[in-house]
Amino acid sequence: MENEPAFFETGPKAGVVGQPLNRVDGRDKVTGRARYSAEYALPGLTYGVLKTSEIAKGRIRSIDTAAALKEPGVLAVFTHENLPRLARTPNDADGKKAIGAPMGFLPMTGDVIHYAGQAVALVVADTFERATHAAALVRVSYLTEQPIAAYTDPRAELFDPQKIQDGKADAHVRRGDARAALAAAPVQLTAVYTHAINHHNPMEPGATTAVWEAPDRLTVYEATQGVTRTQKALATMLGLPQDQVRVITKYLGGGFGCKGSCWPHTVLTAQAAKAVGRPVKLALTRQQQYTGMGHREDQTQTLRLGASKEGKLLALIHEKTSTTSPWDNYAESNSKIINLLYDCPTFEASYQLARGNVMTSTFTRAPGEAPGSFAIECLMDDLAYRLNLDPLQLRLLNYAERDPSTGQAWSSKGLRQCYARGAELFGWSKRNPKAGATRDGRALVGWGMATASYPVHSSQGTARVRLFADGHAVVQSGATDLGTGTYTVMTQVAADSLGLPPEKIRFELGDTTLPTAPNSGGSVAAGTVSSSIYAAAQDVWQKLIKLAIKDSKSPLFKARTEDVVMEKGRLQLKQDATKGEPFAALMKRAELSDIEGSGSGKYGAGYEAGQAVAAADPAHKDEAGQHSMHSFGAHFCEVRVDPDLGTVRVTRWVSVHAAGRILNAKTARSQIIGGSIFGIGAALMEATHRDRHYARYVNADLADYHIPVNADIPDMTVEFIDEHDPYINAMGVKGIGEISMVGVSAAVANAVFHATGKRVRDLPITPDKILGTAAAV
Ligand code: MOS
Repeated sequence: MENEPAFFETGPKAGVVGQPLNRVDGRDKVTGRARYSAEYALPGLTYGVLKTSEIAKGRIRSIDTAAALKEPGVLAVFTHENLPRLARTPNDADGKKAIGAPMGFLPMTGDVIHYAGQAVALVVADTFERATHAAALVRVSYLTEQPIAAYTDPRAELFDPQKIQDGKADAHVRRGDARAALAAAPVQLTAVYTHAINHHNPMEPGATTAVWEAPDRLTVYEATQGVTRTQKALATMLGLPQDQVRVITKYLGGGFGCKGSCWPHTVLTAQAAKAVGRPVKLALTRQQQYTGMGHREDQTQTLRLGASKEGKLLALIHEKTSTTSPWDNYAESNSKIINLLYDCPTFEASYQLARGNVMTSTFTRAPGEAPGSFAIECLMDDLAYRLNLDPLQLRLLNYAERDPSTGQAWSSKGLRQCYARGAELFGWSKRNPKAGATRDGRALVGWGMATASYPVHSSQGTARVRLFADGHAVVQSGATDLGTGTYTVMTQVAADSLGLPPEKIRFELGDTTLPTAPNSGGSVAAGTVSSSIYAAAQDVWQKLIKLAIKDSKSPLFKARTEDVVMEKGRLQLKQDATKGEPFAALMKRAELSDIEGSGSGKYGAGYEAGQAVAAADPAHKDEAGQHSMHSFGAHFCEVRVDPDLGTVRVTRWVSVHAAGRILNAKTARSQIIGGSIFGIGAALMEATHRDRHYARYVNADLADYHIPVNADIPDMTVEFIDEHDPYINAMGVKGIGEISMVGVSAAVANAVFHATGKRVRDLPITPDKILGTAAAV
């Protein structure tokens, strides 16, 4: 596939972009100077603490706040009876949700209890300790009903949602006649996969510090992945013009999707601050985090596969059942990745939901792609064993040269290179094809692999560049740095775009007063924000070039605009580099202390980029704007399984990704390592258990919700394929936040099968399942 036309450049000339620059915010973080949203010591600050519901379904009969109110330092106790009314709530009768609010239901707007852990009272006091104590004195009497804990409850009623994910995705997908193709297929496999509830568990919990600057002007320091989305949601619910709500997020201690929306505690804190007339700070406790900001839903997937005797896919049929809340239709769209990972002529998918008395589930790193890849990549592994094919060979046999789900050409696809390089680094060719046949002492050794893919979602944002004549620049975009390196990589992009060293750049983010950027979610931030900075720098250069060609003292006087270029901070003639001068000289003559430019970047700007490519080369005409845009990768995993204890240790790991341009070799590697560990956690440890009678989480803390620690993780090998994608955006950046965990749990499960001959399809793969009687296909 010809997809790298050399004439279409992306981004600035190579400089510091791509280099393994240390984090520009590293020093501030290790010295404690970096302030997170619960660390603003505002004058008159008060502390909010939530009291939450013990029951999961019913009504509040009465709340006794008298004892709490008598405590010293207590300013107020809010309940549904005295909390000031919102201009609109997400559960208003017209069925339209407040933008950016995942909850079609807001606690403390009435007496109904929908889930355990739902806020029923908010205590505000002059210290955190006094607020915590007083909250413990609030007495609630309930009319309790029997809750539904999950779709697995026999009393749960399954329904067809028609649409999932807030109406963004169809609950029914059909391509060709998959049922007929399956029935006619010489090889047919069916398997059922279950996935435990997973919680994001960022180190920094949900946290809000709200201060009203005037009766109608609010500032919120918020732990959010998107200041603008939070601003819109708060403005809608509080009945304020958008610009009168300011949201600031300078640092974020992880998000993983749970900070992608505006949640109840944020709204309640803003309301409380208004009512008490002082700033209020509220941070969720670790326990409250489990019912305060969503989770990855408990789910069952049934996947059926039809193939030829040679291993060519003929049909895939996917069904998913999961739990949702009493008011929402959220389900991860697992089928998307199953529909496009391999060349398969027919496909069908459907979703069903059951309402449980639970907080709504929400985006969780690679929502849909992570569990969906578990199903397809495990079943492909089964097919390889069935046909005596190497798992990698089977994948190459079904390699999709175009996106099978849409028929479109890929904007770029470096998966073949990922497979080849990963296999080489791992030593895959030495794999014993037989399962359960490799031992090292007592340990059973297994090797598994899996494919990864994640879409390049459409998104757009803006940035501003202010270049000073003294040779430094301030660059701004209202994005969020989840902790993954946005400050650092955008400093690099600005440095190269402006021809300045990175030390001369100050990049500012995380504030709604800055140019609007998208939510840092869906892996869009790196591509969108870098492209907008690049565009804003271009704007600055264009202004300077116009200035130069009108300036009789400039060596570029009367040059043609299109003949002038910027090279390392110099404006010069394209054809004759000696004809030119540094921008500072030009600005000095013009008596400009600084010059400002702005630009917007689009992620998924394949249409315009494609048009440009097609215009330049008619051979690409039919591809203009018609691309399917995805990143790809491959994981290779070695496990050692103790046959007596059933414990699994990951002992080797290789991940190779093709994700367009990589902005910083070090932070990118760290992000892939982080995402892979996130996936290993889901594969082997992570599970939140909901009690089936009370619908309460029984392990809502980091002692009992197990995540990998350093001792669980080997040295990991991470590489990137050098990939130039001219269609994606101005920088050619695809984003790596989520692809890092796609396919990970399958690679682990496939390695476990190779080690033991036992196919565990129920995540996490805990020792009991290894020792149990999980069967092979
Ligand atoms: Mo990501 S799950 O869109 O933060």
